[in-house]
Amino acid sequence: MQVNFVDVKSQNRILKPKLLKRFGDVIDSCDFILGEDVRCFENEFAEYCGAKFAVGVNSGTDALFLALLSLGIGRGDEVICPVYTYIATALSISYTGAKPVFVDIDERTFNLNADKLESKINKSTKAIIAVHLFGQPANLEKIMDVAKRHKIKVIEDAAQAHGALIEKSTNRWRRVGAIADLGCFSFYPTKNLSGCGDGGIILTNEKKIYEKLLMLRDQGRKGNHRYLHYIMGYNARLDSLQAAMLREKLPYLEESNKQRQKSAKLYSELLETIPGVVVPYVDKSVKHVFHIYALLIRERDQVHKKLIDKGIKTAIIYHLPLHLQKTYKNLKYKKGDFPVAEKIAKNILCLPMHAFLTNKQVRYVAESLNGIMGIISVQKRKKQ
Ligand SMILES: Cc1ncc(COP(=O)(O)O)c(C=O)c1O
Repeated sequence: MQVNFVDVKSQNRILKPKLLKRFGDVIDSCDFILGEDVRCFENEFAEYCGAKFAVGVNSGTDALFLALLSLGIGRGDEVICPVYTYIATALSISYTGAKPVFVDIDERTFNLNADKLESKINKSTKAIIAVHLFGQPANLEKIMDVAKRHKIKVIEDAAQAHGALIEKSTNRWRRVGAIADLGCFSFYPTKNLSGCGDGGIILTNEKKIYEKLLMLRDQGRKGNHRYLHYIMGYNARLDSLQAAMLREKLPYLEESNKQRQKSAKLYSELLETIPGVVVPYVDKSVKHVFHIYALLIRERDQVHKKLIDKGIKTAIIYHLPLHLQKTYKNLKYKKGDFPVAEKIAKNILCLPMHAFLTNKQVRYVAESLNGIMGIISVQKRKKQ
C-alpha cells in the first residue's frame, strides 16, 4: 500500500469545478490586485478566527516580517522565538535588522518553553514570537503573562495551526491567531488551509496596527490615491486568485481538521503501547489540528528507511535546530545550548497526515511500524 505524507491533490480535485468558476470570475473582472475576493476573504477569515482585522499578504514569512515592522521593531532590538521551528520564524526577525534570540522547547509539546523565557529578556527585547508548532497551540497564557510584565509584544506564528483552539476559561475556546497582539498564518499549498501558491494573512484587534499593516503590504499607500506613499512599504499583497481559492476552501477547514484529529487519535491508540515510541502529547486546554503528526522514536533513521521501503512516506522535520544552522552561525550558539530541541531533532519522525487519510491507511502505517520496531528490538537483543 502507498501512503503519502501529504495530499495536496484530493481537495483540489473535489473542488475543481467550483475553483475554476471562481478563477473565471476573477479573470473576467480583472480585479487581480487587492480585489473584492481579497477583501471578502480577509473579513471571512477574521470572523472565523474571532479577530477584528485581517490583512492578506503574499506569504507566511512576510506576514511575520510585516507584523514585526508594524510594532516598530528593527536594528538594535531583540525578538525571542523557539529554537525548534521552521526557519521562516527566525528569518522574519532577521529581515527587520533585529536579533533573533532562541529559547529551548518543551519536551512534550515541542513548543516554546515558557519557563525559560524570562532569563532571555533584557532591555532590548521587544517581542516574542510564539509558534503553534505542528498545529498544537503554544502556552500563550504563560507567554503573554511574561510579556505583559515586561511590556513586550507577542506575535503568534500560526502558520501550521489554522483553526486550532485554546480554552480561555471553562468551555470558552478561542482560536489561535486572534489571541495575542498579532497572529500570522501561511497558506502554502500543504497547509491545513491552502492556496495554489504562496499566501499569508495577519490578524490583529488593534486598529492602529491594522492601518499600518495596510500600508506596509502595499508600498506605503494609504486610501485610494495610487501615488501617495506615507511609509517604507513593501509589495507584499495577497493576490485575488489566491484569495478566491481560500474563500472556497475556508468552509471546509473545520471538517478537514476533524478528519486529521480522527486519524491522529487512531494513530495514537494503535501506537502508544509500542516500546520505543512516544505518541504526541496533547494538552487538555488546547485543540491540536495536526498539521503534522510527530512521534519520538528509537532508531529513528532506520525506522524511517524501512517505512519508506513499505511505501509509507514519513518525514524527518527540522533535523537541525535553528542555532546549529549555518544561516545563524553569527549568533555564536553551539551544540548543547538547547538540549531539548537537539534531543527532539534526533528522535522525531512525522507520519503521513492529511484530511484524506483512511483508517485502513492509518492501520497499515501502525502495523508496519509495530513490525519494524519488533524486528529492530530482536536484532538489538541478538547483538548484546
Ligand atoms: C512555523 C512556520 N512559520 C512560518 C512559515 C512561513 O510561511 P510561508 O512558507 O508561507 O512563507 C512556515 C511555513 O512553512 C511555518 O511552518
